[in-house]
This record gives sequence, C-alpha cells and structure tokens, in this order.
Amino acid sequence: MNMRFEGRSVLVTGAAGGIGLAAAEGFAREGAWVMLADRDGDRVHAAATQIRSWGGQASAVTVDISNYDSVAAMVDATVAETGALHIAFNNAGIPATMSGDFENLDLDEWHRLISTNLSGAFYCMRAEVPALKASGGTAIVNTASIQALVASPGMPGYIASKHGVAGLTKAAALDLIPFGIRVNAVCPGFIETPMLAPLVADPGTRAFIEGKAPIGRLGAAAEVADAVLYLASDSASYVVGALFSVDGGVAVL
Ligand SMILES: NC(=O)c1ccc[n+]([C@@H]2O[C@H](COP(=O)([O-])OP(=O)(O)OC[C@H]3O[C@@H](n4cnc5c(N)ncnc54)[C@H](O)[C@@H]3O)[C@@H](O)[C@H]2O)c1
Repeated sequence: MNMRFEGRSVLVTGAAGGIGLAAAEGFAREGAWVMLADRDGDRVHAAATQIRSWGGQASAVTVDISNYDSVAAMVDATVAETGALHIAFNNAGIPATMSGDFENLDLDEWHRLISTNLSGAFYCMRAEVPALKASGGTAIVNTASIQALVASPGMPGYIASKHGVAGLTKAAALDLIPFGIRVNAVCPGFIETPMLAPLVADPGTRAFIEGKAPIGRLGAAAEVADAVLYLASDSASYVVGALFSVDGGVAVL
C-alpha cells in the first residue's frame, strides 16, 4: 500500500458520506490522520468510528460551513488533536432543490446555495490558511463541479455557486503558492452519492443521466476520491489552480 500521507493531518468537510467519506477513507488508508467534518453529526462520528475500526486514524467534528465561527472552531479542533493541519479537502456542498427560470427563482434557495457552496468554501480556506502556514501545509483541494465549467438550464444558483468556487480556487492558488500551498479543485460529473440518489432512483431518469456522460455510466465516489488524493499528494507538485474534471467526459461535449 502506498502511504503518501503518513504523518499528515488532513481535514475533510462533507465527510459523512459520498465523495467526502470516500476521500477521508482514502487518506486514512494511506497513513493520514483525518478529521472528518460535516453538519450531520451522527453520521460523521459514525464514519470516523468506522475508519478507526480497521486501524485508520480519524476523529470527527460537527460543523456548519455556512457559519464562520463554526468553521473556525472546526479548524481549531483539528489542530488541537495533532498540533497541525497539512491538507484540507473542502468538499461539503448542497444541490439545487428546485429548478426555475430567473424570474421565478426562489430567493431563499439562492441564498442557501451561495452561503453554503461559495461562502462555505471561502470560510474554510480563510480559517485553514493560518493553520496550514504554521504547519508547513502543502495542499488545499476544493470540490467544484462540471457546473463550474459549463452550465445547464434551470439551476442558476448552483451554477453560480460552483463557478464561484472555481474562481476562488484560482485566486487562492495565486495567493498561496508563494507559501508552498497548492490550491486546486476537483470537478465531478454525475457521481452516485446520497446527493444524486433521489434523482437516479427513477430508472428512466438514471438512464437519461447516464446517457449524458460519454463514458455511458455514473461515476463512483471512490473515482473522485482518487483524483482528490492525487491533487493533495506530492505527485501533483506542479499542479496549481487546476480545475480537474472527473466526469466521464461530460464537460468535453
Ligand atoms: N454527486 C454528484 O454528482 C456531484 C457532482 C458535482 C459536484 N458534486 C459536489 O460534491 C460535493 C460532495 O457531494 P456528494 O455528491 O458527496 O453528496 P453528499 O450529499 O453525499 O455529501 C455532501 C455532504 O456535505 C454535507 N453538508 C451539506 N451542507 C453542509 C454544511 N452547511 N456544513 C457542513 N456540511 C454540510 C452533507 O451533510 C453531506 O454529508 C458537493 O460539494 C457537491 O456539490 C457532487
């Protein structure tokens, strides 16, 4: 087993399930100590317990990334456990819950998407940077989306929030590379996680979504996690400010 993250302290948000949990498991398998963070306290503590059950090093904290004080407490809790923060995977996010054209777009939905997906990513990076600098930290990976690269009709809030994450990733990459901290984003396509589950439960919708990907199937959370681990590892030492698609070719179309 490759142990790329031995001795590294890694923070993962949105780690109760889906892509975040797959990445947290991957980091732990490769030797990292991992702090799993999520707003779903029960599930994220259970996930950390599960990782410890097979010998991984993990702890958990409940966080609401749309609240700066909560995010700062998450980073403090991470540093309190190991004295360091070397790598952060800012992955927590929410989907659009309704579609609509511009004049009918629900304003609460807009604010929810921006405050979680965009401000949440900013709050995390802002709170993490001093700890990363103090620890000789090396990498931040954000979860954007193919919706950070292209757009689809009827979901302007989600698309704006994820394009914002892409811009924030590029801005942070430039500001932090002088400190040896590489910032990149992963851009997942249609990935089979709890977020997509309600959509793909219907066989017709599932076939429709599968047909949108040139590869002809949905992705697995572990396939995105592999890319995240690469971007966070020293193997990606010359990768800075990249928007890295893991989408079965969707964004190529
Ligand atoms: N599944 C896909 O097809 C897909 C595609 C593109 C991008 N993404 C992005 O991937 C990321 C992970 O999503 P996923 O597919 O694993 O779905 P998921 O719903 O399994 O995971 C998201 C996690 O984020 C947590 N979360 C949501 N709001 C939070 C908050 N305010 N504070 C703390 N935690 C919060 C949820 O509790 C959940 O555990 C998200 O940013 C999502 O937008 C997913």
